[in-house]
Amino acid sequence: MKYESFFTYGVSRPFPFRWFTPGAIIGGIVSLALFTFLNFASSGYNLVVQISSDPNATVSEGNWLQHWPSFLTAKVQPTCQPANLPVDSQLFTNQTALTYTLTNVWKYHEDTGDHIAYPSLNYYNNVLENCSVTSIEINLEAMDRTANQFAYSEWGALLRSYVTCRITTSAGMVFFNLTQTYEYVPNTASYTDVYKFLGTGFLSRNQTTRASLWWGETLMSTYWGAVTWEMQLERINKTRNSERGIRKGTVSFTPNGTFSDIKDLNFLDTDYRFIVDKGSASFDVICCPSLPLPLTAGSLNAANLYPNIWIEADTLAKSTYSTVLTDLGQAAAVSNILSDESLLTYFTSNFSRIKMANFKAGPGNASFDSLKATTGPLSVIPSVIATTYLCQVPELKSAGNLILAIIVADLVLLQSMWQLYKIVAEWYLGRRQPTANYCEGCVGAPGEELTRILYANDAYTT
Ligand SMILES: *[C@@H]1O[C@H](CO)[C@@H](O)[C@H](O)[C@H]1NC(C)=O
Ligand SMILES: *[C@@H]1O[C@H](CO)[C@@H](O)[C@H](O)[C@H]1NC(C)=O
Ligand SMILES: *[C@@H]1O[C@H](CO)[C@@H](O)[C@H](O)[C@H]1NC(C)=O
Ligand SMILES: *[C@@H]1O[C@H](CO)[C@@H](O)[C@H](O)[C@H]1NC(C)=O
Ligand SMILES: *[C@@H]1O[C@H](CO)[C@@H](O)[C@H](O)[C@H]1NC(C)=O
Ligand SMILES: *[C@@H]1O[C@H](CO)[C@@H](O)[C@H](O)[C@H]1NC(C)=O
Ligand SMILES: *[C@@H]1O[C@H](CO)[C@@H](O)[C@H](O)[C@H]1NC(C)=O
Ligand SMILES: *[C@@H]1O[C@H](CO)[C@@H](O)[C@H](O)[C@H]1NC(C)=O
Ligand SMILES: *[C@@H]1O[C@H](CO)[C@@H](O)[C@H](O)[C@H]1NC(C)=O
Repeated sequence: MKYESFFTYGVSRPFPFRWFTPGAIIGGIVSLALFTFLNFASSGYNLVVQISSDPNATVSEGNWLQHWPSFLTAKVQPTCQPANLPVDSQLFTNQTALTYTLTNVWKYHEDTGDHIAYPSLNYYNNVLENCSVTSIEINLEAMDRTANQFAYSEWGALLRSYVTCRITTSAGMVFFNLTQTYEYVPNTASYTDVYKFLGTGFLSRNQTTRASLWWGETLMSTYWGAVTWEMQLERINKTRNSERGIRKGTVSFTPNGTFSDIKDLNFLDTDYRFIVDKGSASFDVICCPSLPLPLTAGSLNAANLYPNIWIEADTLAKSTYSTVLTDLGQAAAVSNILSDESLLTYFTSNFSRIKMANFKAGPGNASFDSLKATTGPLSVIPSVIATTYLCQVPELKSAGNLILAIIVADLVLLQSMWQLYKIVAEWYLGRRQPTANYCEGCVGAPGEELTRILYANDAYTT
């Protein structure tokens, strides 16, 4: 009695087709190549987290994957998350010059036009559009500043520029307000830097590649020095005449909108308040002259009103206006000192006559005419807010991992392919030769019926 295991084996017979072996080899090689390629695309990559400052570039670097069928690569497409910039956060542009505070974010309702406020700006590297400076304030102070600041300059000025901008996102237009604050001698300035160039308020500068902003910083710090020096002269004159001087004040400038030449003294409407401290909690307010409205630096200067800092303050405001718009990449601004050589020549022509207290302005220390050769071309280029994005990018698996993954996946697919090939061949064989499934031993076996059928069949096929 022979032993019989539970497991069995199939009896095999060679296929009676000439094409079967070449078909298997060629098909095998072709499918191996195809499967390796597909497996490489679908499982050769891992997604890894990366921090990027330019999500558009990060996503397009992975672009070559997009030429492949998306059903294979959908899981390994590079993606980046938008950045979330909360209201009240500080930000700067990719020109790395001035710093801004985000104060409001809003949208208009598509149908009703209602104003909808948002707690943060959902930002995806959008180019800043249609930014406008709505006003610029110069807040002047003397005795209220720290002694440290006094060492630099008796008077100080804190500038605030109010800006409205827009970005176009996939969810429509989003508007936001920014406030820019500039103070050349802040209370954090170290006493050891007195008499030096401080470079406050600008994150970086480059004389050749970003000449417009280099000149913007030069104009702002130089006229900051000029205005505060003028205030000091006004105080000296009052002291000399034994009169009480100004303690603090503010001058506000608003673009008029009807003048297109920034040189024009009517370009900015002006208003102001100055306070004279008379001791014993009484004070005078200097304001509101009987001049035709709107007041301008030109009319105030022509009337020689106290304190006569009007022209310098106006130029400081215009310098700030131009620098902010350049930093925000607004090439379409009405008139910009920093994109026009003749305007820059005009506004820097008095540099050699400007005096200031115990500090140096800069980085430029002479007029545009004399430094033109050392600075690069003036230009206003588009800006985006500088921030970082969390991205997922495809990364090739390590060689060992990759080979193993592909071999395993290839084997599975090749195996299925082989089975399929065999099933098709067997089916075809079954149709051509109904006897295909009879084993040879059985063919010669007694059993007349079977033999008769077989012979009949052979006769039929031949
Ligand atoms: C800032 O980003 C914009 C948009 O990508 C680009 O056109 C511009 O050149 C960038 N500016 C600087 C200074 O890199
Ligand atoms: C980056 O891509 C986003 C979304 O496609 C687009 O809104 C934005 O303008 C692009 N930014 C730049 C600088 O091209
Ligand atoms: C750009 O802004 C100005 C002032 O904020 C506005 O009057 C103008 O309509 C805006 N332009 C576009 C195209 O939105
Ligand atoms: C944005 O600033 C402008 C000008 O300062 C102001 O008129 C407007 O009300 C501000 N927007 C919001 C939502 O506060
Ligand atoms: C300005 O930029 C150029 C080009 O990127 C660089 O070679 C040069 O060193 C920069 N200058 C300064 C002062 O950083
Ligand atoms: C100095 O003060 C006197 C009196 O207040 C005034 O008349 C004169 O114009 C002032 N001089 C200057 C240069 O401001
Ligand atoms: C602009 O200036 C003109 C002339 O000085 C004046 O009539 C007009 O009211 C000013 N516009 C604004 C918005 O201040
Ligand atoms: C330069 O100084 C002259 C003479 O003091 C003055 O008339 C002119 O307005 C000044 N230019 C600027 C841009 O301040
Ligand atoms: C301007 O600065 C340069 C180099 O920093 C110096 O050589 C030059 O003497 C300065 N010019 C003036 C007028 O201070």
